[in-house]
Amino acid sequence: MIKVAVLGYGTVGSGIVEVINTNKDLIAKRVGEEIEVAYVLDLRDFPGDPVEKILVHDVDVIMNDPSVSIVAEAMGGVEPAYTFAKRAIESGKSFCTSNKELVAKHGAKLIAMAKEHNVNFLFEASVGGGIPIIRPLIHSISPENVVEVSGILNGTTNYILTKMTKEGLDFDSVLKDAQDKGFAERNPEADIEGYDACRKIAILASLAFGAQVDFEDIHTEGISKITDKDIEYAKAMGMAIKLIGSAKNEEGKISAMVAPMLVGPESSLYAVNDVFNAITVTGNTLSDVMFYGKGAGKLPTASAVVSDIIEEAKNLNRNIRIVWEEEKINLSAFEDINNRFFVRLSGNDKLNEDKVKEVFGDVKVVSCDLIKDEYAFTTKVLSEGVFADKTKEFDNVVNVIRIK
Ligand code: HSE
Repeated sequence: MIKVAVLGYGTVGSGIVEVINTNKDLIAKRVGEEIEVAYVLDLRDFPGDPVEKILVHDVDVIMNDPSVSIVAEAMGGVEPAYTFAKRAIESGKSFCTSNKELVAKHGAKLIAMAKEHNVNFLFEASVGGGIPIIRPLIHSISPENVVEVSGILNGTTNYILTKMTKEGLDFDSVLKDAQDKGFAERNPEADIEGYDACRKIAILASLAFGAQVDFEDIHTEGISKITDKDIEYAKAMGMAIKLIGSAKNEEGKISAMVAPMLVGPESSLYAVNDVFNAITVTGNTLSDVMFYGKGAGKLPTASAVVSDIIEEAKNLNRNIRIVWEEEKINLSAFEDINNRFFVRLSGNDKLNEDKVKEVFGDVKVVSCDLIKDEYAFTTKVLSEGVFADKTKEFDNVVNVIRIK
């Protein structure tokens, strides 16, 4: 019997208990031993809930019980999760988590500590919910020199952009609808401003490139400035707007960013809609592989945490090697990142046309039947710095969206 403690009995925590109980026999077969949830830690009481009997309010009970081999955390936030993770590992317990804030901030340190104490720190559910992406990056893609990892990493924003595209609605009404349906948080800032995707791409980049990528260093833009007119232009170009997190290794220069981007039908991300996430990894010999599925939700996320519990149960007293050094990668300056840009200027006149030609040279003009009072175009590949300098020449920029 392998004893597990679950920290946090919210959406994901209760899902972990449910997945373990639902698939108990099958999990026992796969591990070779039964997994039992011995404790659930939460500040709240749950009268009438089956976990009432194993509910504790004091983490010391778990940390001081040597029969607990694995601690699964689903509380969210950096503290007290980080303190609990360190204590568990120092007590010789393996730790797994769905907490992207914790992993992005302290993943490298916790991996090193787990190695030192011959236990494991795993975090499959921290990116992409139920999509297996972390373990494939550690194991299956291990022969590869990763050139790029990028994708749609946030379900809430993908739902909003999909609804705006399919139903022609504006951002605010779709956000309200998503909140009413429980898809979007009451405080949706972390999702819509890209902070959630930023932490996820920082985790993926750290694993892909083997050392710490600080999320604070990643240029991040959300979708709150995307309007229904941008969506109309995207449709006119036969493209879709997606919030993309991407990290690239171009001849040793590593760059990362999060921003809404126009993607064309040739991209595997074009048809990824609603709350689905998708991540593509490009390896130097493998070429492209794509991981697709539900990036959020109680049971898909809980299933990913339970997959870590199973992995840890199969590897008690054996550290699984994960290469994510604590040493920080210095990302390329944002100004040096190359992109193509779609630009909207107010006023559809000859003045715009002449000035755009003078400043940007040859561009591709974009017309949209529904919008008559603007001049829109796409640029060639330019560095962010050069593009910013050129756009300073214009005081009538309505919006800019990058093209993937
Ligand atoms: N809020 C996240 C999303 C789910 O909308 O994708 C948890 O990572």
